[in-house]
Amino acid sequence: MDIIKDRPIGVFDSGIGGLTVLEKLYEACPHEHYIYYADTKNLPYGEKTKDELIDIVRKIFDFYQQQDVKAVVMACNTSSALVYEELMDDYDFLIYPIIQITAECVAEMNLKRIGVLATNATVESHAYLKSLVEHDRMLLVKESACPLWVSMVEHKKEDYEDEDEDAIMLEYLEPILDFRPDKIILGCTHYPHLMNKIKRFARKSLFINPADCFSEYIKKDLENSGLRKTYGVLRTDFYVSSNPQAFKKNASVFIKMKDLPQLLEL
Ligand code: DGL
Repeated sequence: MDIIKDRPIGVFDSGIGGLTVLEKLYEACPHEHYIYYADTKNLPYGEKTKDELIDIVRKIFDFYQQQDVKAVVMACNTSSALVYEELMDDYDFLIYPIIQITAECVAEMNLKRIGVLATNATVESHAYLKSLVEHDRMLLVKESACPLWVSMVEHKKEDYEDEDEDAIMLEYLEPILDFRPDKIILGCTHYPHLMNKIKRFARKSLFINPADCFSEYIKKDLENSGLRKTYGVLRTDFYVSSNPQAFKKNASVFIKMKDLPQLLEL
């Protein structure tokens, strides 16, 4: 008999950003079988149009459907901002979008001024602003884009070869710090990977890594749906849409990876 609880959970992002979510899921739900898809061929998502992203994410969801997953974790803010509402009713599995769930958690923190750092596409969509004020309309929110941070995390030096890394950090941090926020949401899953650099310019406790509340929410929701696995060994199958070697090298700074990810262009 097929037990739905035993089915895998899809987790995807454009690259290694989603690993900041995956590592928290390992703590919150340590018995699951995860299928991580890193769409490095289409990175950066933050520079894509809404239509392009809908096409891209539909293919990823179709792949997860073939894999018979019980849930898909959108470990990518940009696709949660632009695609979630378009596709949310088209599939049978549970779908967890990072922005909408983070906004719910942050709105419960009784803050007044919230900064959001995210990709160009996420900022232009105002998805954080809209989701946050839906829960608390008194919140003051400033959203700001940090386009080069994804390239820094993915070691795409060609994108910023003439620029100094400290200058890039400050260029994006200063305007959001000037807003005097109570907290700053790291609204792109790549950004928590830069915490060591960020904390040279601002105190670490100012920043919210959405992966913390997101993974806890997923744990509780799976539990409430009777779908959380509480037995068996943790397993992850990694897939990547280009250059498995580079992904393994970049990812292994943050996560143990025994084998090369499988190459899968969707
Ligand atoms: N890490 C993703 C996000 O949370 C996408 C970054 C990108 O590819 O631009 O938005």
